[in-house]
Amino acid sequence: MFVHFLRLMALAVIVILAEYGGIAAQEKDPLIPRVPVDQRAEVKKLTSPLSVTKDIIAEGKMLYEGKGTCLNCHGKSGKGDGPVGAVLNPAPRNLTNCEFQKERSDGELFWIIKNGSPGTAMISLVPGAVNEEEAWKVIAYVRSFCP
Ligand code: HEC
Repeated sequence: MFVHFLRLMALAVIVILAEYGGIAAQEKDPLIPRVPVDQRAEVKKLTSPLSVTKDIIAEGKMLYEGKGTCLNCHGKSGKGDGPVGAVLNPAPRNLTNCEFQKERSDGELFWIIKNGSPGTAMISLVPGAVNEEEAWKVIAYVRSFCP
């Protein structure tokens, strides 16, 4: 009887931890493309209009941590561990995952910032938070996680 009670308590603690972010939600299939298949070929061809320099990367960092709001979810480190990110399901992408970065073209990163990922907290941030040029600067910064 007492053992049964202990088991129930242990289960309750696990559920509470999971609910309140003590056990963070998982990312959903980070390597599977998000751009719809009928647009993918076109989107993959998109390239940055900027030539990436140290200054562009520094501006991208300011935008990532500032009005782009990326750090709230993806974290200052980019690992997907921002204060808001901790309670999201699916969890924000770990942008420092270089296997993920290799799978995505710059155009796909741009597409997701512009269109968001339907059914997730990754909403469209262009033009609401940043304009297109600023989005490319943020991408230059994100790429610097995997030089
Ligand atoms: C409110 C939380 C939130 C904010 C703010 C946010 N993201 Fe996300 N982001 C997410 C979540 C959640 C996912 C995972 C979506 C999925 O699994 O499809 C994601 C996914 C991504 C991905 C991966 C898309 C892919 O192809 O798999 C990229 C890149 C990304 N975000 C970049 C950014 C950038 C850059 C910013 C800032 C301009 C930003 N995000 C702001 C929550 C957020």
